[in-house]
Amino acid sequence: MHLARAALALCLSIVAACSTSDDASPPPTGLAEPDRAALARRLLTGPEWYRHAVVYEAYVRSLQDSNGDGVGDLPGLTSRLPELQALGVDALWLMPINPTPFADSGYDVADYTGVNPDYGTLADLDALLAAAHARGMRVMLDLVLNHTSDQHPWFQESRASRDNPKADWYVWSDTPSRADVGCGTFQAQFGAEAWTLSKARNQYYFHRFYPGQPDLNYRNPQVVKATLDAARFWLDRGVDGFRCDVIGLLVESADGCDMIPETQAYIRQLRALLDEYPDRAMVAESTNYETAVPYFGDGHDMFHMAFNFGFGYFWGFPFAGTEARAVSDKLEASRRGAPPGAQEALVIGSHDVSRAYVAAQKVPSRWRRAAFVQMTAAGTPFIYYGEELGLRPGKVKVVDSRDYQRTPMPWTRGPGHGFTTGTPWIPFGEGAEETSLEAEAGDPASDYAFYQRLLAARRGREAFGAGTMTFLHGDSPAVLAFERAGGGEAYLAVVSMDEAAPQTTRLSAVGGEGEPRLLFGAATAAREGDALVVTVPAEGMALFRLR
Ligand code: GLC
Repeated sequence: MHLARAALALCLSIVAACSTSDDASPPPTGLAEPDRAALARRLLTGPEWYRHAVVYEAYVRSLQDSNGDGVGDLPGLTSRLPELQALGVDALWLMPINPTPFADSGYDVADYTGVNPDYGTLADLDALLAAAHARGMRVMLDLVLNHTSDQHPWFQESRASRDNPKADWYVWSDTPSRADVGCGTFQAQFGAEAWTLSKARNQYYFHRFYPGQPDLNYRNPQVVKATLDAARFWLDRGVDGFRCDVIGLLVESADGCDMIPETQAYIRQLRALLDEYPDRAMVAESTNYETAVPYFGDGHDMFHMAFNFGFGYFWGFPFAGTEARAVSDKLEASRRGAPPGAQEALVIGSHDVSRAYVAAQKVPSRWRRAAFVQMTAAGTPFIYYGEELGLRPGKVKVVDSRDYQRTPMPWTRGPGHGFTTGTPWIPFGEGAEETSLEAEAGDPASDYAFYQRLLAARRGREAFGAGTMTFLHGDSPAVLAFERAGGGEAYLAVVSMDEAAPQTTRLSAVGGEGEPRLLFGAATAAREGDALVVTVPAEGMALFRLR
C-alpha cells in the first residue's frame, strides 16, 4: 500500500516536471527567472502566508478512510498530504471535525473541543498538524459559532428549565417569534420554521438552520467567553486558523441581522485572540453575496480573508455568456470600499453548492477558465476537494441534497478507488473511474494536469497573492484581461469568454517593456506602439509575464 502511494506521489511530481501542453516557456530575455521554490518558501512563511497559499477545502469524511469503515478520517487525510502537496496545495481547511449527531453533516457541533470519533482522536489531529507543519503546510478548522447541535450539553441544560444556569445561552421565546429577533421571523434556511417548541420549557428556541441547530445567544457574555475559549483551545493545539461559519449572523436584533455592530465587536475579540498567536489567519463565510467588505473591518481588526461569493458561486452564468464585463464587474464591485490589504478568498465551488462540473453545464473549458480566474485574480484560492479532478456529482443523499457534491475522492481506479477497503459511507459520484487521480495524473490533457500546471505557474510569484489588479478593457468585449503587479514583477491574464471564435483585442496601458512571455495557456501577444494586441483562442486563456 505504502509503496503504491509512494509510486503515485512520484508520478505526480513527474507530471509537474514533464507536462508540455501549456508549460512555461523560458523566461523573457532580460527578465531573470528567480528561484521560485525559494521565493514560494519565503512568501509562505510568516504572518502573510495566507495571501500566497493555495487552500484546499477537505471534507474529512470523504477524503481517505484509514480503517476500512468506509468513512474518511484524520489518519487517512494525513496519509494523503503527499498527494495534496504534489498538486500544489499549501493549506487545508477541514470542514467540521467535532463530535456531532450529523443533522447538518457536522455543522451541528455537540462538543467544541472534541474530535468526531468517526474521524479519529485529538491525538490524530495533533499528528495531522505535525505532519502538515513538517511539510510547510497549514491546517485551518471550521469554527461553527452561530449555533450548536441540540445535543450539545449547553443546549441540553438550557432546554431543561427556564431557570438553569444556561437558561439564557440560547434564544428562547414564549411564542414562535420575538420582536427583538426580527430576522428570525422568516423561515429557517433549510425549509422548516425558524422556531421550534421545547416541551420541557414550554418555549420556542430560535434556529436559523435545521431544528437540530439552535442559535446561541451572543448577548450573554458567558456565551461569548465559552466560544472564545473553544477557539483558544484549538489555537493552543497549533491549528493555523479558522474558517468561520455564517459568522455575520451571530447576534440577533430587531432590525438587521447581518454583521450588526455587536457581531462586529465579537469578531474583533476573536481577531484579538488570534493575534496573540503568531501566523494565524481566519476567513469569513460571508452571508452577503454581493460584497464581503464589512468582514474586513479596518483591514487589521477583523478577518484576514472573506469569501467572495459574488463571483465565486455564480461564475457558471458569466462563463455561459460572452461578456467579459460579467466577470470583471463582479470582481470589481465586491472589492469596492474594501480597506487596503483586504484579501478575498476565491472559490468556484464548495460543499454547499453544485460541483463545478454541474455549474459549468459539463463544459470543461468553463470550469477551467473559472479556475484560471480564481488562481490569477486578486485573492487566495480555495479549491474544493475534487475540483482538480473535475469530479462529478453523486446521486445519493444521506443528510440532504448537498451530499451530491460530497462524495468520496477517487484516488485510484478500481473498487474502493483507494478511498476505502470497505463500503464507502456514500457511493462515489458519476465517472469515478475516469476522474480518479490515478487516471488523470498520467494524462497531460486532464483536469488534474491542468490544475497542477496552473498552481505551479502561480507559485512563488508575489504579484498573485498580494499584488494590485487592474482590469483592461480592449475592443473585444469577449476578452477578460487583467494585469497583476507586485514584488517587482507584472503579469497579464487573458481569458476568452467566447466559445466559438478566436478573439483579438487591443489593450492599452499594459505594463512592462518588450514582448510578453507566455507562462501558461495559449494566446499570442505583440506590442504595437503603445498597445498590446492579444489573440486568445475560443474558450482559451493565457498568462503572460510582462516584467
Ligand atoms: C454554512 C455551511 C453550511 C451549513 C450552514 C449552517 O453555510 O457552509 O454547510 O449548513 O452554514 O451551519
